[in-house]
Amino acid sequence: MAKKYFIKTYGCQMNVYDSNRMANMLEEMGLVKATGQRDADVVVFNTCHIREKASEKLFSDLGRAYQIKLERAETGLDTIMGVTGCVVQAEDAEIMKRAPYVDFALGPLRYFRLKEVVNEIFNKRDVQLLDTEFSAVSKFDLLPENKAEGACSYLAIQEGCNNFCTYCVVPYTRGVEMSRPVEDILKEARRLVQTGSLELNLLGQNVNSYHGEDAQGKERNLAYLLNKVAEIDGLERLRYTTSYPADVDDDLIDCHKNLKKLMPYLHLPIQSGSDEILKKMNRRHTSRDYLKVVEKLKKANPDIGMSSDFIVGFPGETDEDFKKTLDVVNEVKYIQAFSFKYSKRPGTPAAVMENQIEEKVKKERLQILQDLLFDYQTKFNESSVGKVMPVLFESKGRHKGQLTGRTPYMQNLYATADDSLINKIVNVRIVGASMNSLSGEVI
Ligand code: SAH
Ligand code: SF4
Ligand code: F3S
Repeated sequence: MAKKYFIKTYGCQMNVYDSNRMANMLEEMGLVKATGQRDADVVVFNTCHIREKASEKLFSDLGRAYQIKLERAETGLDTIMGVTGCVVQAEDAEIMKRAPYVDFALGPLRYFRLKEVVNEIFNKRDVQLLDTEFSAVSKFDLLPENKAEGACSYLAIQEGCNNFCTYCVVPYTRGVEMSRPVEDILKEARRLVQTGSLELNLLGQNVNSYHGEDAQGKERNLAYLLNKVAEIDGLERLRYTTSYPADVDDDLIDCHKNLKKLMPYLHLPIQSGSDEILKKMNRRHTSRDYLKVVEKLKKANPDIGMSSDFIVGFPGETDEDFKKTLDVVNEVKYIQAFSFKYSKRPGTPAAVMENQIEEKVKKERLQILQDLLFDYQTKFNESSVGKVMPVLFESKGRHKGQLTGRTPYMQNLYATADDSLINKIVNVRIVGASMNSLSGEVI
């Protein structure tokens, strides 16, 4: 019987992309996807270090997974346990101390070794492997070819970040910014479309600072790449994430005017509305710069919906500072957003800044911000009722006979529809709305 694998993914879209590529590798080895940890011979935890909660949860999950491994061992079944992703990079050798039962740990730039490592452990059981090298070779050159998992695919076009926001671990866990060459991306994009993707989401930690080389060795920007990818026949929808406000150039804004396939939705994190705090965060933009970019985007495409990330309770944040964040929300009227309490990350400059904010205050501010954000999100969803929107159905819904998919604005939509519509784009009339989803009728 074929051996089975199980991958648990934490964190951002980049990790989802990496997990898909790891699944591809394990499938090439003849493994099949398990339904859960209990029936998996190879279990991989692809981890995130961005906030304390995320990385601490990992260790409780690992403890539980180890219990399952022991229970399987009692029935004669062997389990290989591996950890990949940003916690591995951040903790390095410490991870093997904290979880000594782990068989292998590979950093986010090293998982191209997965096949070799799993084989080695299968063959001689008692090895433990840790690899967190920041090598000069690009992992993308060393990965086997991938294929689409469904109608929506992520495609990493860049890795790492040079921005060093003072709260953030990403530059330490993913290394310096590296852009993949244009031709490599186009090849992968064509392959994903040929194997079933209708929608591509180009990924990078700071995706709009993309500057990969074309076939002639000329440096190209994200706008050039978007234009090229949009030319692919069969591709219907294009997105990119996550953008850095200071790096939004006019070429990119033009894409939102001219590229039909580019969806009218942009995730553009501001983090805070206070210039004092933005400065302490080492963000290269003021709130005014940010609002100017939004204005230009709205001019290029009046239908564009904006989304953002926010951090509340950054060291030194006063009530006044916080109020400025609310002002930005009231100005931009986000259609979706993610907001977090500031979390101290070891080794980052903000962790040792003075005037750390009390948990109670952070909690209060988060509540106020989220109430406001949810209000705008709900209003936007309600304004969709009565409209007809093209929806890309991705999977079955919670209820029988129901499918779920996304509108161009990334809204979740549920509709009664035949399974044959999965992985298709269908016009749907919106009939209901709540904060988190829409309901519709297929036309
Ligand atoms: N590269 C992207 C995403 C980075 S991580 C960007 O620059 O926008 C995703 C989000 O996590 C960030 O936008 C930020 O809002 C949040 N985040 C990062 N570090 C954090 C920390 N130490 N505490 C709380 N939130 C954090
Ligand atoms: Fe982190 Fe800032 Fe880079 Fe985003 S831009 S990944 S928040 S350092
Ligand atoms: Fe987390 Fe690493 Fe992504 S820290 S947010 S998985 S880049």
